[in-house]
Amino acid sequence: MKKSYIIFLIFTVTLSLALADEVGNRTAESIAEEIISSLSQAKFEDWSAAFISTDDKIRGGVLPATLFIPVAATDEHLGDRNVAAYHVVPEKMEFADLLAKEDKTRIITLLAGCSILVGNTTEGGLTLDGVSVTEPDVFVDEFIAIHRIRLPLDFNRYGRMVDFNKPKPKKEVISRLEIEIFAVVIASSLAGIVHCLVSSRR
Ligand SMILES: *[C@@H]1O[C@H](CO)[C@@H](O)[C@H](O)[C@H]1NC(C)=O
Ligand SMILES: *[C@@H]1O[C@H](CO)[C@@H](O)[C@H](O)[C@H]1NC(C)=O
Repeated sequence: MKKSYIIFLIFTVTLSLALADEVGNRTAESIAEEIISSLSQAKFEDWSAAFISTDDKIRGGVLPATLFIPVAATDEHLGDRNVAAYHVVPEKMEFADLLAKEDKTRIITLLAGCSILVGNTTEGGLTLDGVSVTEPDVFVDEFIAIHRIRLPLDFNRYGRMVDFNKPKPKKEVISRLEIEIFAVVIASSLAGIVHCLVSSRR
């Protein structure tokens, strides 16, 4: 366990160095960090505005991303970075993209190593960790998409299994930003193995 942790650390540091190149004047990592911190300080009803203003080109770089906003009126998540991070997918996914997912597909989130389980069955319709989408495509632009969902997503219950084997659809041209985002996703997945293992033992 100890040895693998050290290997993991070396890997993360190497990746971070590789990520030092900037997107605009912000790195994909720093954008992700700003999104998480901005959402964790806002009520769900203010998430849309917080997200749109944080993940904005004008601020020096944008991360293609999708936000799921629970309609539930609760403030319990305030200050909880994990809840915020688990509701953001570092890839723009319109509702049509979600519908194109097969049942039991997992989509990676900004919460280290925790992914959302997509359900897509004729009986159940489209669900995310069993939660239905109440308002799809509330906001969509070139880089981001926002959907409203019935309840907050529960990473303690559903987030754990990361599917490393599922290849991403290949594109002809992969931009620098995409490479960077992919690296962030891999780095956070690795961090998450530790994170989710540790938290599941508590
Ligand atoms: C990044 O650039 C934007 C303008 O494009 C500017 O408003 C912002 O302050 C810059 N951020 C940093 C950290 O230099
Ligand atoms: C997901 O569900 C939608 C709506 O029922 C359906 O059109 C679509 O084909 C499904 N996707 C897959 C991959 O089965």
